[in-house]
Amino acid sequence: MTRVLFVCLGNICRSPTAQGVFEALLATHPLAGRLSVDSCGTGAWHVGKAPDPRAIEAAASRGYTLSHLRARQIDAQDFERFDYLLAMDQDNLDDLRKLSPSGFRGHLGLFLDYASGSTEREVPDPYYGGSAGFDHVLDLVEEASRGLLDDLSHANTP
Ligand code: 4NP
Repeated sequence: MTRVLFVCLGNICRSPTAQGVFEALLATHPLAGRLSVDSCGTGAWHVGKAPDPRAIEAAASRGYTLSHLRARQIDAQDFERFDYLLAMDQDNLDDLRKLSPSGFRGHLGLFLDYASGSTEREVPDPYYGGSAGFDHVLDLVEEASRGLLDDLSHANTP
């Protein structure tokens, strides 16, 4: 089993969107059952809360369900449990690097490294903006999710 953790700041906008989109794509993919995904935030402000209503609504308009997800903060065990920790932006990645134990053997990187058709390297934080920002997050997340699935398919080919 390969385990993937999506990481943003609050775990109420970008990383739960990534989790919901990726899980939906995985459900009908040959790797279903061989990959598991989760999401978390580097911050603790929203722990226990459902995703932002704007993220839930934007995702629902494309057929993804996020309302069952609950925010949590990254902890030390995540570096043992997950093989890939994928950050939404550079600040998140810098925080992950600071928190990672010296023996960490997993992969730390930016989620959009898997979005080969996009020139953007970071998923912009939509929290203080309007609904267009949440649609843009979905565009980026859908593309990176497809790229990550392709990449992991090749990695899992015997
Ligand atoms: P997220 O967005 O990191 O994509 O979940 C944010 C949510 C909340 C805050 C910042 C970003 N906040 O400052 O409360």
